[in-house]
Amino acid sequence: MDKLNELMQRRAVVEQGGGERRIQRQHSAGKKTARERIDYLFDADSFIEIDAFVTHRCTAFGMENTEAPGEGVVTGYGTIDGRLVYVAAQDFTVIGGSLGEMHAAKICKVMDLAVKMGAPFVSINDSGGARIQEGVDSLQGYGDIFYRNSLASGVIPQISVIMGPCAGGAVYSPALTDFILMTKYANMFITGPQVVQSVTGEEVTADTLGGSSVHASKSGVAHFVGDSDEETLDMVRILVGFIPSNNLETTPVYITEDSPVRTDEILREIIPESPNRPYDMRDIMRTVVDDNNFFEVHKDFAANMITGFGRLNGRSVGIVGNQPKVMAGCLDINASDKASRFIRFCDSFNIPLVTFTDTPGYLPGVDQEHNGVIRHGAKLLYAYSEANVPKLTVITRKAYGGAYIAMCSRHLGADMVYALPNAEIAVMGPEGAANIIFRNEIRDADDPMQKRQEKIDEYRNQFANPYVAAGRGFVDDVIDPALIRPTLINALEMCITKREGRPAKKHGNIPL
Ligand code: HXC
Repeated sequence: MDKLNELMQRRAVVEQGGGERRIQRQHSAGKKTARERIDYLFDADSFIEIDAFVTHRCTAFGMENTEAPGEGVVTGYGTIDGRLVYVAAQDFTVIGGSLGEMHAAKICKVMDLAVKMGAPFVSINDSGGARIQEGVDSLQGYGDIFYRNSLASGVIPQISVIMGPCAGGAVYSPALTDFILMTKYANMFITGPQVVQSVTGEEVTADTLGGSSVHASKSGVAHFVGDSDEETLDMVRILVGFIPSNNLETTPVYITEDSPVRTDEILREIIPESPNRPYDMRDIMRTVVDDNNFFEVHKDFAANMITGFGRLNGRSVGIVGNQPKVMAGCLDINASDKASRFIRFCDSFNIPLVTFTDTPGYLPGVDQEHNGVIRHGAKLLYAYSEANVPKLTVITRKAYGGAYIAMCSRHLGADMVYALPNAEIAVMGPEGAANIIFRNEIRDADDPMQKRQEKIDEYRNQFANPYVAAGRGFVDDVIDPALIRPTLINALEMCITKREGRPAKKHGNIPL
């Protein structure tokens, strides 16, 4: 019985983490503890802890007398909507959630289990970084995690949730994972505000340097931001619901009441007659998917490109589309990076791709050229070409030039390409085209303005429609906008047995 008491006592100590005072401090900062976060994330009573009794073996700088219950990280597994998921949640109440040798060993163990069992791995970060007292042992710990993050990439989904500080090299484990979610108050940076100031003289706060809004909108590091711990963890649950557990599975199928043959006349209104009037591509995406449930990824970054998940007759699809409301839907460096990474995630995990195209082309400008739009833009071509999941494309309006090709055209292996009746598929817009090929005629005309307009109309009539591309078979059908949903569902079900090999190779060399 004494032994049983000892067990219960030891467990109680571990469950207390850094103790009441530090837990209070965590709560008064509006943060849950690691255990509370896990309880919230997983289905009720499903979490099973592993390695609760692991201890550090550092004896430097007073560590021999420092207790670290649970080693500053809670690890184990549980279920989300009944599906197995592994977790490591850093416990800021224990030595600031800092990462030492044994802390890292606990994380590595659950990562290894997740890969072996083929289940997603969620890492909840709230830490002061490398445990300073442990020196190189702590660096080894990070290295071991980065190595596993890289090997697990494309095998199991890896999701990082940043719920406190995440500084220094510690940022690179999240950076290697598929999705990063941040709570509003979290921050991430390689070097903190003081170092930045001493090296570059720039005065910044933690928030302006690496706060959640910076990473959601400017750097593109964060895919989602939640206002609270709860909202952020809710998003993790939603995300997991859209994705398969590993690269050998297909997406989970949900039962939906939403009819697969539902038609939507509103879609005829959403896209304006005029080729230059903006509209919100998300309205089309939302209308088309099951229950109008579109889960946007990377919402505030490169808003000229939209990425997200939805379901079509119960099956998850990855949705990519230009956003005519922002920069007219031009492709640029950030949009290419954003979409390419999303496409590669979907392809790794057998999630079919649906693309909505309305783009006048790649964004012109010195800034784009000098920052490598050639190199970054190429990623999109590579990612779509490499993907061998079912690929369906709907050209809603403009599909010009290289951007037409890049947005999952037939030429990059789309299985079915649809165009709406007002689609314009051409090398460039009629205005630009007329200025170049009829330059002399316009210049020599009695009324150059009128001549220019005539030539624009002539070009538009000739090429700015879907029928030239349909005539070549580059577009499989021109459809009534009201029929986008049933058309896509039919095509998706037709493609579900798709098998398309790729040449054997060690791995390709995507332009990075
Ligand atoms: C050891 C640490 C620690 C660390 C925090 N603590 N970070 N102990 N190693 N890295 C301890 C504190 O001493 C304190 O102990 C407790 O955790 C809570 O920390 P506070 O400072 O009281 O909390 P707060 O005021 O909220 O500030 C949080 C913080 C700050 C901003 C994260 O603690 C901080 O700046 N820490 C150091 C960050 C850092 O430089 N890390 C190394 C980065 S380099 P007590 O006993 O008082 O409660 C790195 C390299 C990785 O990570 C390379 C990988 C390749």
